[in-house]
Amino acid sequence: MNDKELLNRLHTHEKRILKALEGKKSLTIQELEHETGLNKDSIEKASLWAKVKGVLKIDEETSETLELTKEGEEYAEHGLPEKNLLKLVEDGEISILELKKKLKKFDIGLVWVKKNNWVVIKKGQLELTSKGSKATKEQLPEEKILISLKNHEQMPKLSDRSSLENLEKRGLIKRKVKKKREIFLTDLGKKILPKLVIKDEIGQLTTEILKEKLWKTQLIRPYDVTLPSTKINPGKKHYITQIIEYIRGIWTDMGFKEMTGPLLDISFWNFDSLFQPQDHPARDLADTFYMKIPEKGKLPDNQLVEKVKLTHENGWDTGSLGWQYKWNPEFARRCVLRTHTTSLSARTIAKLKSEDLPVKYFAVGRCFRNETLDWKHLAEFYQTEGIVVGEDVTFRQLQGYLRRFFEKMGFPKTRFRPGYFPYTEMSLEVEVWHPAHKQWMELGGSGIFRPEVVKPLLGKDVPVLAWGLGFDRIIMDKYKVDDIRKLYLSDLKQLREAQMWLGV
Ligand code: PHE
Repeated sequence: MNDKELLNRLHTHEKRILKALEGKKSLTIQELEHETGLNKDSIEKASLWAKVKGVLKIDEETSETLELTKEGEEYAEHGLPEKNLLKLVEDGEISILELKKKLKKFDIGLVWVKKNNWVVIKKGQLELTSKGSKATKEQLPEEKILISLKNHEQMPKLSDRSSLENLEKRGLIKRKVKKKREIFLTDLGKKILPKLVIKDEIGQLTTEILKEKLWKTQLIRPYDVTLPSTKINPGKKHYITQIIEYIRGIWTDMGFKEMTGPLLDISFWNFDSLFQPQDHPARDLADTFYMKIPEKGKLPDNQLVEKVKLTHENGWDTGSLGWQYKWNPEFARRCVLRTHTTSLSARTIAKLKSEDLPVKYFAVGRCFRNETLDWKHLAEFYQTEGIVVGEDVTFRQLQGYLRRFFEKMGFPKTRFRPGYFPYTEMSLEVEVWHPAHKQWMELGGSGIFRPEVVKPLLGKDVPVLAWGLGFDRIIMDKYKVDDIRKLYLSDLKQLREAQMWLGV
């Protein structure tokens, strides 16, 4: 760093400290407070920064001093309780009762005179020992210490530390550590001092600065973006929410409108309207969550229900023979947690009128299946659904939309394999190439809705491209979650450290 860069990097506080040191050997923080008019905090902070930049040196000296506590002060003034007790005994007061009356701190005194073997107690009377009578005549080291501390005099010479320790244990004195900092200019500091100019700098942009264009004339403090900084954890959206919003963006960019609807739906929309026969294995308890409360819901208008019923029973006028069984409206009323977002496609198509076409709709939402839970499977998962309804839509366009979607999700290679769904013909399984795992990953199903689905719902047979794609595995992969159950833990550490979703 050359001098100019260094000068640029110095904060005004640092500059003021340097200036104050000009021509002086060193200054303490206190002296700097006086010289610069800055407070202690600012000086400490700025001098540390200036030290890092090599323009200041800080010498730190710690020293220990002793101080009297409140109790210590009292004894320094009025004498130690044991000594006062001793004096009274020497003067002829010997009964415990009398002594108790005369002496405020009798109890403490008694403890110590006994401990020191200054007295013996016989029948409630105190008798001085020879040690005790010696002690009445001399000034004890403890007393000397207390008095010298009280008068701020030099400490008496002590033969050992036991009396000091004693006083400390009794809580009559305490130690205090004092830090003294001396701040010096380094050679580098002295060298740049003559070039130092202290000008007012803009440290923080305000609306006023922007409005008045003050940045044109005033100095703005440069920031060193390479310095380490503290980590902050700002509020952010949950990463799954981020992905959902991203997916929403992909579809809306392609001109799709969003369809939304209930998680808890009647079987009619989840199965029957999709030409799924009532004895279809997917409708089994083992695969589907049926509700106890509410157990059943209300079917839509009769006309539609009748068309669906006939389509199941004999194909109605869809050109199909149907499934050839007796359709039961009570089964269609049973409430389920939707097993796919395709229920929303059925609901949407039922609302469309001829003049609305062509249309494109998408959905993103949760679905539920009665799975055995393990690291790869949960009973709930996300799907993104899509339909394109229009006379001219083609099978190739279906593949085009899906390729485009996965490209934007970060998977440039998509392939299609024949599949089977009761509601589509053609039916395709959608797979994407996973470059890191070097394998194909199955992410959903798609196809063109059968006339048995479209005609009862829409009133006429129009091609409808349709798909339903899962993306939990993409999330797991991106966030390196090895167990799908961890996706939905509210683990703050995991959430804080999760990267922003910026596409893949
Ligand atoms: N609903 C199917 C599933 O959940 C996906 C799908 C949607 C298939 C639309 C074809 C058409 O797997």
